[in-house]
Amino acid sequence: MVTTKSLIVAYGLALLPVLVSSSPIVPRYFQRNLFSRDNITASTVKTELGQQLSKGSLIFGPDSALYPNATERWNTRITPNAQVVVQPAAESDLAQIVKYCNDNSFEFLVRNRGHGTTDSLSTFSGIEIDVEMLTGVTIQPDKKIATLQAGTFIGDVINKLWDQGFVATTGSAACVGLMGAALGGGHGRYEGLYGLVQDNIVHYNAVLANGTEIGVNETSHPDLLYALKGAGHNFAIVTSVVEKIYPRENWYQKTYTWTQDKLETVFEALNTFHKSANGTTPARMGVSYGSIIMNTSISTTEAVLEWGFDYAGPAADAEKLLGPFNAIKAIQVGSKRTLYNLFNKKIAEYPELAPSAYLWHEGYATAGMQAIPSDSTAYPHREENHLM
Ligand SMILES: Cc1cc2nc3c(=O)[nH]c(=O)nc-3n(C[C@H](O)[C@H](O)[C@H](O)COP(=O)(O)OP(=O)(O)OC[C@H]3O[C@@H](n4cnc5c(N)ncnc54)[C@H](O)[C@@H]3O)c2cc1C
Ligand SMILES: *[C@@H]1O[C@H](CO)[C@@H](O)[C@H](O)[C@H]1NC(C)=O
Ligand SMILES: *[C@@H]1O[C@H](CO)[C@@H](O)[C@H](O)[C@H]1NC(C)=O
Ligand SMILES: *[C@@H]1O[C@H](CO)[C@@H](O)[C@H](O)[C@H]1NC(C)=O
Ligand SMILES: *[C@@H]1O[C@H](CO)[C@@H](O)[C@H](O)[C@H]1NC(C)=O
Ligand SMILES: *[C@@H]1O[C@H](CO)[C@@H](O)[C@H](O)[C@H]1NC(C)=O
Ligand SMILES: *[C@@H]1O[C@H](CO)[C@@H](O)[C@H](O)[C@H]1NC(C)=O
Repeated sequence: MVTTKSLIVAYGLALLPVLVSSSPIVPRYFQRNLFSRDNITASTVKTELGQQLSKGSLIFGPDSALYPNATERWNTRITPNAQVVVQPAAESDLAQIVKYCNDNSFEFLVRNRGHGTTDSLSTFSGIEIDVEMLTGVTIQPDKKIATLQAGTFIGDVINKLWDQGFVATTGSAACVGLMGAALGGGHGRYEGLYGLVQDNIVHYNAVLANGTEIGVNETSHPDLLYALKGAGHNFAIVTSVVEKIYPRENWYQKTYTWTQDKLETVFEALNTFHKSANGTTPARMGVSYGSIIMNTSISTTEAVLEWGFDYAGPAADAEKLLGPFNAIKAIQVGSKRTLYNLFNKKIAEYPELAPSAYLWHEGYATAGMQAIPSDSTAYPHREENHLM
């Protein structure tokens, strides 16, 4: 009997005799276009890969009750096609899965919390590696670093560290994957004090495209360290990281609701607050954030401004800095109205959108981030002061 694989080899030899005969060491993952297998099914993958994975790992397809959660996306317009889902129970499984996919010319894509919004995700079809079981958050004995596994997410890491008396740069939105954020930089409330998430990672455990496991740090693969810090999703699957942690401290939070007539004044105060000295937002003023939102107990036609400030320190220190916002009274008209007016107009046009908010401004402190030389990592936005 002629097996699929021997046919493949025969075709490869026939089409590319020079390449194949003179370069027997061309890695399999560069040969993927030489052949393709029939459509992947969960039962095939279970039979072929299942035994190699650690106990507790799961392999399933679209007919499984587990499939909807394992493939859910924050943005439903992003539609990777997960023909089969593999959930590894141990970090070491990731290398096995990658080798298996390479050997069989199956595309693979890591998924953690499904918040990625790059269009290219929608072109994927193959084996999804869902890392949600890898949830370890382990504070090391020196209490200066913690090991965080690939399946951790921001809210989970914040809570687990906080409960033990620590904080770390994690990113802000609780629902987002820690690694997804960290591999692209990672913005959050400790940016002013400690920098980006990536700036606090001292070691990455990673699996390369050929399934080889490596450790990446200043003395081991430093070129890859540069790339993982800012362009990381393209260079490896990270199975865990070692990140610096810091003693926790209390936060002071203050929120304001302003009616629309204060709009220009609020933005002038924000400009002074964040930008007058070019990005020297007080390092402890971790974030200011604002949205426009319809609050029907105030008005059904004019959205209000909801603003918040989070300060890492005592209320009295924060209040000194918040003086200009406490004092806002003036009524002014200017050119910053366009977006605000558009929001009201759209709510009037589509009343079903009334419960929505337009997140307008996220101003993190930047001192810690900008203390790191821009050319030391692949992250390209260090000079930028704001996310608008
Ligand atoms: C509502 C919302 C809030 C956000 N808030 C913040 C924030 O506060 N701070 C911030 O910095 N960013 C924030 N982001 C951006 C967010 O960091 C990125 O979208 C991130 O890539 C999402 O990661 P995920 O695990 O949730 O998504 P996924 O779609 O599961 O993963 C995103 C990408 O990362 C890859 N990937 C995931 N894990 C690994 C791994 N271990 N190794 C290699 N590649 C991997 C995936 O293959 C995919 O391409 C936010 C995004 C949204 C939608
Ligand atoms: C493989 O899947 C594609 C789309 O997912 C489908 O169009 C095609 O018919 C399938 N082929 C086989 C042999 O099942
Ligand atoms: C899917 O996720 C939801 C929300 O976290 C949970 O309540 C539900 O039990 C999950 N479903 C399955 C089949 O695991
Ligand atoms: C995998 O790739 C790395 C980086 O190119 C290389 O050093 C290593 O030898 C490769 N491993 C195998 C088994 O081919
Ligand atoms: C750097 O990585 C190598 C390879 O994993 C490891 O042996 C070494 O201990 C790491 N160094 C630090 C400082 O983490
Ligand atoms: C801020 O930076 C810009 C551009 O680099 C410069 O022109 C301006 O003078 C700076 N302003 C202050 C207050 O430092
Ligand atoms: C709307 O405004 C009222 C009065 O200020 C306030 O109590 C309430 O919390 C606001 N609702 C929302 C959803 O912000």
